[in-house]
Amino acid sequence: MLNRRMFLQGSAALGGAFTLGAGLAARAGAAPDPQILTARFAEAQIAAGGVTPRVMTYDPGDPASTAMPPVLRMRKGEPFAARLVNRLDEPTTVHWHGLRIANAMDGVPEMTQPYVYPGDGFDYLFTPPDAGTFWYHPHCNTLMQMGSGLTGVIVVENPEDPSFDSEIVLNLRDWRLGASGEFIAPFKPRDAARGGTYGTVRTANWQREPVYDAPAGGLVRVRIAATDVTRIYTIGLEGAEARVIALDGNPVEIPFALDRLDLGPGQRVDLAVRMPQSEGQHARLGNFRGSSPWTIAAFRAVGTSLKRELGDIAPLPPNPVAEADISTAKRIPIDLTATAEHEPAASICGSLGYTFWAINKVPWPGDTPDPVAPIEELKFGKSYVLEIANRTPHAHPIHLHGLSFRILASNRRSVLPPPTDTILLLPDEQAQLALVADNPGDWVFHCHIIEHQKTGMSAYFRVA
Ligand code: C2O
Ligand code: CU
Repeated sequence: MLNRRMFLQGSAALGGAFTLGAGLAARAGAAPDPQILTARFAEAQIAAGGVTPRVMTYDPGDPASTAMPPVLRMRKGEPFAARLVNRLDEPTTVHWHGLRIANAMDGVPEMTQPYVYPGDGFDYLFTPPDAGTFWYHPHCNTLMQMGSGLTGVIVVENPEDPSFDSEIVLNLRDWRLGASGEFIAPFKPRDAARGGTYGTVRTANWQREPVYDAPAGGLVRVRIAATDVTRIYTIGLEGAEARVIALDGNPVEIPFALDRLDLGPGQRVDLAVRMPQSEGQHARLGNFRGSSPWTIAAFRAVGTSLKRELGDIAPLPPNPVAEADISTAKRIPIDLTATAEHEPAASICGSLGYTFWAINKVPWPGDTPDPVAPIEELKFGKSYVLEIANRTPHAHPIHLHGLSFRILASNRRSVLPPPTDTILLLPDEQAQLALVADNPGDWVFHCHIIEHQKTGMSAYFRVA
């Protein structure tokens, strides 16, 4: 870790003007040393056929790190600082997906902070209130920037969590690469108007089918984040027993056996895996969606068996998410629809050139200067029920910034997950989402299939 003095020298050498995030100035004395995240171009070996030039990554300034954006480790209830330095050739920001932090730190250009232009930086400082698995990514020109590599995993630790014998963190994503590893067109318009455009190379931690060692007969916490711009996974594990212990950062009340689990873009799952007993045996994490399942990653048992059992692990302590008061909650209808073609709004954060989708009939790409009214102004501290209806034949992973919500009811599911920041809304699903508007500010609400987000399926709530 660099110390504070080295930072100041570093930023002086950069010659850029740093925008000081709200809060940092006031609390500079108490602020922890920032985690450096230099958004920059790099090369990486991703496809079998050749090196990919000009991937985008967050460089933590640590010589031991790989090309992939680092796994950021934070602690529940403790301040965390990060300094974004923009060495790309276009504006960017960082959004901390799922963290219920102050609006000024949320990373949405125009809405919560200025663009961070090339050569400039931005200091983020916040305290994550919840423990669990989260992730981070830009909120500007998202299809290009995330598609090129800017998606990383966040682990918020809780000292009260049960301890495991080891931990494996997996960042699942695809890449749109040609045979020799070069980037190809990031999307096809006709697919953007449907389920989204898929990548051509599938990776976990930027590797094709990586293998991780873990103690034989031991208990492993596997943290999985689906950070792809399009792909919905249906994960399963073969060769070992596993239980689902958390979904989208929040502990499940009663851990249940993993069979097949859908994981849409933006969603996370934490598994407790009991490794096979004998050295050399493998467990395989696979994607079982569609007709030809494939291996995402494998876990290889090493050493003599620790002889642990899944039942040895206590459930994770819950996060402090407020319970909505349903009896007084105002109900807000939200319709997700396809839309007739409009002229897309111009944006410093790039435009895909099309409009295909709308929320409550308004298409918005989500990163233009405040062009639309909020869906609703929520009163600080009050409870609400979003009556959301997916009036399209496609699934949409719908994400709300800054607030967690609970799925109260749905016409398409009987088992309801713990509170979440992202619901994978199924085709024609109608659901009731309950929340307490306990975090003030403007909070974006959008589909996390990025082509849908950028072609209209974005909106926001104002909490005041
Ligand atoms: Cu994962 Cu608007 O973000
Ligand atoms: Cu969508």
